[in-house]
Amino acid sequence: YSQYPENTIVQRPIVAAHRGVPSLAPENTMAGYQLAYDLGADLIETDVHETKDGHLVIMHDYTVDRTTNGTGSVSNMTLEQIRQLDAGIKFGPEFAGEKVPTFREFLQGFKGKDVVLLVEIKQAGIAEKVLKEIEEEGVKNQVLVQSFHLGDVVKSHELNPEIGVGYLYSSGISATSEGRVTDAQKMLNYASRMNANLNASYGSLSEEFITYMRQRGMVNLHWTFRNEQHLGDQLEKGVIGPITDYTQWLTDVPIRL
Ligand code: G3P
Ligand code: CA
Repeated sequence: YSQYPENTIVQRPIVAAHRGVPSLAPENTMAGYQLAYDLGADLIETDVHETKDGHLVIMHDYTVDRTTNGTGSVSNMTLEQIRQLDAGIKFGPEFAGEKVPTFREFLQGFKGKDVVLLVEIKQAGIAEKVLKEIEEEGVKNQVLVQSFHLGDVVKSHELNPEIGVGYLYSSGISATSEGRVTDAQKMLNYASRMNANLNASYGSLSEEFITYMRQRGMVNLHWTFRNEQHLGDQLEKGVIGPITDYTQWLTDVPIRL
């Protein structure tokens, strides 16, 4: 920030570390989350599924194939089977032995620390279980729950209106030539009834929409920034909360106020 005069207010973006820091460490592992925390992420994003025997675990894909040394669907495997997998070795030998985290392990690992846990309900219909573990672990003030499944967003809000929710939204956000937001308006009205954030993909954001949200004080999170040029462009347009694979890019980047 040295380029700014002493009394200038600058603020860096609200950085959400997408699945940890998958550019530097295996995604959705405790090692990756710890790195995100150490790099100064404001939020740590994570994806939740339910195993065959009813336990909540963290995995982005519906199968374990891409990120672990195993094969199969999360929903067809028991917790014990999943815990035997290595979630680090494919990324690099220095991460060998990393386990697929349980959701509870993730919550416990960062409980009380200065970071918000951005919990994505990836598998539809598990909101009740997710909320139960959040409440049992006493972290309801430290989490935001988001999902592409509107039913799970609504359910989460109904189960505990104190917990912040976000709807993941990826299309239809546009503005007319007069700058009037159209499809997004409907979603925003709906979202505002639940006090939800509308966490849209960055590709579907227009400058008008960003302005619209900012005028209403909505600090929404947008995904997923993997390209430095795109990220810079969107910050310039007024995006405040990027969700990114590259937390390390953002620790010293000011945003437009
Ligand atoms: O946080 C939102 C973002 O993670 C949604 O996309 O596929 O990476 O879960 P995905
Ligand atoms: Ca996600």
